[in-house]
Amino acid sequence: MPSVSNSDTLTFFVNGRKVIGSHPVPSLPLLFSLTLLLLVYLKGTKYSCGSGGCGACTVMISRYDPKNKKIHHYPAMACLVPICSLQGVAITTVEGVGSIKKRIHPVQERLAKCHGTQCGFCSPGMVMSIYTLLRNHPEPTPGQIMEALGGNLCRCTGYRPIIESGRTFCQGSTVCQMKGSGKCCMDPDERPFGSREEKMSSKLYDEDEFQPLDPSQEPIFPPELIRMAEDPNKRRLTFQGERTTWIMPVTLQDLLELKASYPKAPLVMGNTAVGPSIRFKDEFHPVFISPLGLPELYFVNTTDKGTTIGAGYSLAQLNNALGFLVSEHPKEKTKTYRALLKHLRTLAGPQIRNMATLGGHVVSRPNISDLNPILAAGNATINVISKEGERQIPLNGPFLEGLPEANLRPEEVVLSVSIPYSAQWHFVSGLRLAQRQENAAAIVNAGMSVEFEEGTNTIKELQMFFGNVASTVVSASQTCKQLAGREWDDQMLNDLCQWVLEEIRIPPAAKGGMVEYRRTLIISLLFKFYLKVRRWLNKMDPQKFPDIPANFVSALDDFPIVTPQGIQMFQCVDPSQPQQDPVGHPIMHQSAIKHATGEAIYVDDMPPIDQELFLAVVTSTRAHARITSLDVSEALACPGVVDVITAEDVPGDNNYSGEIFFAQIEVICVGQIVCTVAANTYAHAKEAAKRVKITYEDIDPKIITIEQALEHGSFLSPEKKIEQGNVDDAFKHVDQVIEGEIHVEGQEHFYMETQSILAIPQTEDKEMVLHLGTQFPTRVQEYVSAALKVPRNRIACHMKRAGGAFGGKVTKPALLGAVCAVAAHKTGRPIRFILERGDDMLITAGRHPLLGKYKVGFMSNGEIKAADVEYYINGGCTPDESELVIEFVVLKSENAYHIPNFRCRGRACKTNLPSNTAFRGFGFPQAMVVVEAYIAAVASKCNLLPEEVKEINMYKQTSKTAYKQAFNPEPLRRCWKECLEKASFYARKQAAEEFNKKNYWKKRGLAVTPMKYSIGLPIAFYNQAAALVHIYLDGSVLVTHGGCELGQGLHTKIIQVVSRELGIPQSYVHLSETSTVTVPNAVFTAGSMGADTNGKAVQNACQVLLDRLHPIIKKNPKGKWEEWVAKAFEESISLSATGYFKGYQTNMDWEKEEGNPYPYYVYGAACSEVEVDCLTGAHKLLRTDIFMDAAFSINPALDIGQIEGAFIQGMGLYTIEELKYSPDGVLYSRGPDDYKIPTVTEIPEEFYVTLVRSRNPIAIYSSKGLGEAGMFMGSSVLFAVYDAVAAARKERGLSDTFPLNSPATPEVIRMACMDQFTDMIPRDDPSTFTPWSIHVS
Ligand SMILES: Cc1cc2nc3c(=O)[nH]c(=O)nc-3n(C[C@H](O)[C@H](O)[C@H](O)COP(=O)(O)OP(=O)(O)OC[C@H]3O[C@@H](n4cnc5c(N)ncnc54)[C@H](O)[C@@H]3O)c2cc1C
Ligand code: FES
Ligand code: FES
Repeated sequence: MPSVSNSDTLTFFVNGRKVIGSHPVPSLPLLFSLTLLLLVYLKGTKYSCGSGGCGACTVMISRYDPKNKKIHHYPAMACLVPICSLQGVAITTVEGVGSIKKRIHPVQERLAKCHGTQCGFCSPGMVMSIYTLLRNHPEPTPGQIMEALGGNLCRCTGYRPIIESGRTFCQGSTVCQMKGSGKCCMDPDERPFGSREEKMSSKLYDEDEFQPLDPSQEPIFPPELIRMAEDPNKRRLTFQGERTTWIMPVTLQDLLELKASYPKAPLVMGNTAVGPSIRFKDEFHPVFISPLGLPELYFVNTTDKGTTIGAGYSLAQLNNALGFLVSEHPKEKTKTYRALLKHLRTLAGPQIRNMATLGGHVVSRPNISDLNPILAAGNATINVISKEGERQIPLNGPFLEGLPEANLRPEEVVLSVSIPYSAQWHFVSGLRLAQRQENAAAIVNAGMSVEFEEGTNTIKELQMFFGNVASTVVSASQTCKQLAGREWDDQMLNDLCQWVLEEIRIPPAAKGGMVEYRRTLIISLLFKFYLKVRRWLNKMDPQKFPDIPANFVSALDDFPIVTPQGIQMFQCVDPSQPQQDPVGHPIMHQSAIKHATGEAIYVDDMPPIDQELFLAVVTSTRAHARITSLDVSEALACPGVVDVITAEDVPGDNNYSGEIFFAQIEVICVGQIVCTVAANTYAHAKEAAKRVKITYEDIDPKIITIEQALEHGSFLSPEKKIEQGNVDDAFKHVDQVIEGEIHVEGQEHFYMETQSILAIPQTEDKEMVLHLGTQFPTRVQEYVSAALKVPRNRIACHMKRAGGAFGGKVTKPALLGAVCAVAAHKTGRPIRFILERGDDMLITAGRHPLLGKYKVGFMSNGEIKAADVEYYINGGCTPDESELVIEFVVLKSENAYHIPNFRCRGRACKTNLPSNTAFRGFGFPQAMVVVEAYIAAVASKCNLLPEEVKEINMYKQTSKTAYKQAFNPEPLRRCWKECLEKASFYARKQAAEEFNKKNYWKKRGLAVTPMKYSIGLPIAFYNQAAALVHIYLDGSVLVTHGGCELGQGLHTKIIQVVSRELGIPQSYVHLSETSTVTVPNAVFTAGSMGADTNGKAVQNACQVLLDRLHPIIKKNPKGKWEEWVAKAFEESISLSATGYFKGYQTNMDWEKEEGNPYPYYVYGAACSEVEVDCLTGAHKLLRTDIFMDAAFSINPALDIGQIEGAFIQGMGLYTIEELKYSPDGVLYSRGPDDYKIPTVTEIPEEFYVTLVRSRNPIAIYSSKGLGEAGMFMGSSVLFAVYDAVAAARKERGLSDTFPLNSPATPEVIRMACMDQFTDMIPRDDPSTFTPWSIHVS
C-alpha cells in the first residue's frame, strides 16, 4: 500500500473555485470535508440526517463526459458523497447559486417570495434541487418539478408554496391557479370562495416582481476539468489518508489488477450502500477502489435479444436509457423495462437515484431492492469480469438469496447487466407498497413474470421474487415450479396464494414487524398481478380470454403522482388603510431571502471558536435498571478526547425540577444520558463514546405502555376532571349507549435542525454564554444556573432562530443546555453540542401517545345526551409538561359539541420511555380523535352520516363550555357551513358513493371535521410578554422581545406591528435575536401565542415612545421621522423603552372544575376526500378544503403557511408517521429511513385554504393565533380514510364499526379492509412469541 507521503493531489472545483487537497480523509463525506479543504466556512449546505434521507444537504455535481463531450449536472446528497469521489468534478452549493452579497438567483428569489420558506433549514436543499433541474431543463414541466423535489423533506411549509415557486419556471406558468380554465381567480365573479362583500384575494405574491431566468448567466464549467478529463495520459490516482486509501484506476485492466490485489476492498460507486454501512454499522475498510467514470462501465448496447447496460450507470441514467428504449421499441418487447421504469420513479429521491449505480444496486442486493426482483423476473444476467476472464451470472433467486455458488467471486467486477426483451406471451410486472408514495423503502415489493404456451393461458414458466419479506430478496421457486402447466384461472390463483404463503414464511417475531400485514401484502400483490395478467391476456385475445370484471379494473393501477393545485383565499385590507402600513398584507418572511441563499445562520453555522470541543452522548440501553458499573477509562484514552463528563461533575443540582441531567444510580428509560465525551472533533468524541462501558442490573417493573402503567398505578400527576349535568342519570334516559376505546400513537417532531447548542464559558465571574435553537431561553437559563450553581444573571442565552421546533424545543433544550454547560464548565472550553438525528429522536421524545375510553348515550336521532370520557397519556419517565398536557386534553375534550351531561377525566402515566413533551396542539390533536370517533360511532348506530350527527350536536349559540366559560360559536358555524357548501360536500359524498359502487378494490371517503381550538394557557402569568425597543439617531429601530423565531414568522409580524405603530417603513425596523440579556424571564414561545403577546408588548413599547415623541411631532407635524428622532435626542428624551403585556387574565379552578382558562377560541372546519386501495392499504388525498377563522390576519401569507404546514404535519400524524418501539422500550425509529414524514407526493391534489373573517377585539389588531390549529384539521384525512374503509367493509358484509385508531397507516387500512386474502394468511397465537414492536398508547 502506498505511504501517506506518496498521496496524489485531489482536484475539484467548488462554486468555481479550485480546491486541491493532498491528504483527504478518503471515507469522509463531502459535507464535513468541504470546510476542511477550503478553509472557507460554507455554511449554506445543511446537515440534518446524514443518511441521504432528507435532502437538506443537496448540492449539484457537474461532471464532464469526454466520450460524448457533454457536461452532466445532477443533484447529490453531500452527506453521502465521499470527498475523494470528487476528483475532476465541479460542485455547486447554495452559495454558488446566488447570495445577497452578489446576486440572488431567480430560484432563491421565487422560493422566498412565494413563501416557500418558514424556518429555512430545508431551503438551501430545495434551492439546489430546483436549480439543478433548471440547469438541465430551463423550462421544466410541473411533473419534473414534483420529481425534482421528491428527495427533499420540509417539516414546516406543507410543500405547496415550494412546489408553486418551482412551477413559476414552467412554460406558460401564471400566478393564477385557475390557469387553463380560461377564467381568473381575481375576477370577482370567478372567486370560488368568500362572499363578494368581503373582498377576497388569492394573490400572496406578485409574479411581476420576479427576475426572469437567464440560463446563459450560469457559471461555466471549469475548462481545466475538461482538459483533465480529456487527458490521454491519465494515470491511476491514489489518495492516502491516515487509516484508509482511495484508489482510482483509469483502465479496466488496472481495475482488475487492483481488485485482485485487494479483493475485500469495496468498489465505491454511488456510496449509497457503502457510506451508510460505514456510518451506521461501524464497517471499516482500509482500501476503497473507485472506478467512477471508467468508460468501460458506462454504455448501453442493444441487440435483437435485449439491452446491456453498463454497471456504472446511475439509476437516473438507467431511467433515461430505459425511457428511450421504451419509446423506440414495441410495447410487447419492453415489459420488463416498463416495470423497472415504474419503480425507478419512486425509488428513493432524485439525489439518490443520481448517485446509486446499477452495479452497486445489483451487488449490494438490499432486501428492500425495488429493481432486483424485476430484473430477476425479467431473466436478467450479470456480466462479470476478473483477471481470469469474463462470465455471466444469472440474476436469479440463488444470486439474490446470496447462495455462495451463485455469487460473485471477491476479485470479480460487474461490467454490466443484460436485460432481455420480453417475449410476446411473456408478461412482467413490478409491484410495491411503501409507507409513503415516494422516497420510502417498500414494506413489501415484488417482481413477477409469467410466460404462457403460445396462444394459450397455460403457464410455461412463472417467476416471483419478493422484497422485504426476509433478510434477502426471496423467490417462491417451488410454487412457481408446481404451477407450470396450469391455466391462469381462479383455481390457480387460490393454490398460488396458499402455496406462496407456505413457501415464504415470515416468522411472527420477524424484524420490521407488520407480520400479518406483510403476509397479506404478498398475496394481495399476487392478486394484483393475477388481474393484470388476465387483463393483458384479454387484450391478446379477447375472444379466448374474458376480461376481468369492470369493478375490479381499479385494482390494477397504483395512485398516480400529480402536481397539486389549489387556491388560498384571504380578505383584502381596507382600501382606506395607508399604503405604508403593512398590517394585513402577505409580507414575505423577514429572513426568507437569507434562508434561500443559505446565509441565515443557525447554531451549527457559527464559526469555530478557539479551543472548542465537541460533545457526544452516551445513553442508557435499558429501560429500567441499576447502573452497576461505569468504566470510562478506554474512552478517555481515545485520540482527541479531553474528558468524560458524568453526574459527579455537576456542581449544582443533577436532578432539577424532576428532570435528571445525567443518570447516576439507575436509568429510567432507554436513551437517558449517562455521560458525555468531549473531544477535539465530533468523530473522536463519537468514537470514544462507543468505548464507554456500562453494566446494568434490570429493575422491575419495566413499564412501557399505558396499559402497563394502569396495571401498576404509575402516574406522573393527579387526575384532572371536569363534569357538567348528571352523567350517570342521563345514561338511564337515552335510546342507546355505546362504549369504545381509541388509541392515538405519538409523533416525532422531526424539526429539520436537530437540537443544537454552543456553550462558551467566560473567564470572569462564572459567566456562561449559550447559543441555542430554543423556544424558551429562560428555561435554559434556569436549568443551566441550577446545574452550575450560579445565579441566573451569569447565564446568557441567545437564540437567533431555530430550524423548526413545533414544541420540541420548549423544555428539551434546557436539559441538553445543562448537560452541555456542565461539560463547558468542567473542561473550561467552549462546547459544541449538535445532536445527531438518531440521538435527537431517541433522547428528546415527542407527542404523547394517548388512550381514550368513552361511554356515550344518545337518542336515535343522533342527539348525544351523555358522554363519559377517560384519557390517559404516555408521559414517559419524567414530568416534563405532561401534567399541563393532560389538563389541556381534559379542558378541550368537548371540541365543538355541546353534550349536556359530560364528564371527562384524564391522567398522565409514568412509564420507562423517554419523557414526552410539548408538540403543536399540546394534546388536542390526539384527544379530539376520540371525540370525532365516538361521533362517527353514534352516526353509524343511527344510520346517519357523521356530518349530520356533528351538525346536530354542535354548539349553535352563545353558550358556556363544560368548564363554564362563555363563548360565541358564530365563527364555528360559519366555517362549518362554508366548508360544507364550498367543498360541495354532499354532492361529492354522493359521487364517492357512486364511485364505490363501481369499484370493488378502491374506495373513496369524505369527512368534514369541525374545530373549536382554545388559545393561550389557563395560567395567567404564562400569557405575559415583554419587549425592548430602541430608536437610533438615524431613525432605525432595533426591537427585541421575548418571543423566539422558529420559522413561524413571528419577527415578520412584529416588524409589521412596529411599522404601523411608529408609522415608519418596515425597512427601518430590525430584529436581531432573542436573549435573556435584553428581555429577562420571558415565557416560552408556544401555544399559538407568540405574536399575540409579544405583539402587544412591542405595541406598548412603541406607544410609550410615541407618547414621548408626541410633543415634538405636534410642533412639527409635517416633519420627518428622522427629524423628530434627532429633536428628541436634543431635548434629552429617552429613545429606548420597554414594553409590557400583562397577559390575558385566564384562570382555572380544578377544585370547582370551572374557570376562564382561555382568552379566546379559534374555529375551523376541514373537508378531505381520499381514495383507498383496499388491496395494499395505500391511500391518496384527493382534495382538502380548510376554512379557518383567522379574525383579522396580520399577515395572510404567514397565517396560511401555518395552517397548511400544520395540516400536513397533522395528516402525517394521523396517517403515515409511526414510531416503533421494542417491547423493551427501545425506539427503533431513529431517522428518515424508518420514520416517514409527508413529502411532496402526500399533499392534497387539490388544496383550498380560506381565511374566514371574524372579530377578536381582545387580541392585537383583532387577530388570532393560528400556529397550531391546523394540526387537528389533518384528522379530516383520518376520518375520510375511515369513511372509505367503512364503505369497503359494508360491501364485504362486515360490521361498519371498527376501531378508529391513529395513525391509519397502510397496515391499519389494509387489515381493516378484510377479505379473502386477510382470511387466508396464517395467524399466530400472541402468547407464543414476543413481537418485534409494540404500540405504546
Ligand atoms: C436514502 C436511501 C434510500 C434508498 N431507497 C431505496 C429504495 O426505495 N429502493 C431500493 O431498491 N433501494 C433503495 N436504496 C438503496 C440503493 O438502491 C442502493 O444503495 C444502491 O443502489 C447501491 O448503489 P451504489 O452505486 O451507491 O453502491 P455502492 O454503495 O457504491 O456499492 C455497494 C456495493 O456494491 C459493490 N459494487 C458496486 N459496484 C460494483 C461493480 N461494478 N462490481 C462489483 N461490485 C460493485 C461495492 O463493492 C459495494 O459492496 C436507498 C438508499 C439510500 C441511501
Ligand atoms: S443530511 Fe444529507 S440527506 Fe439528510
Ligand atoms: S422551512 Fe422547510 S423545514 Fe422549515
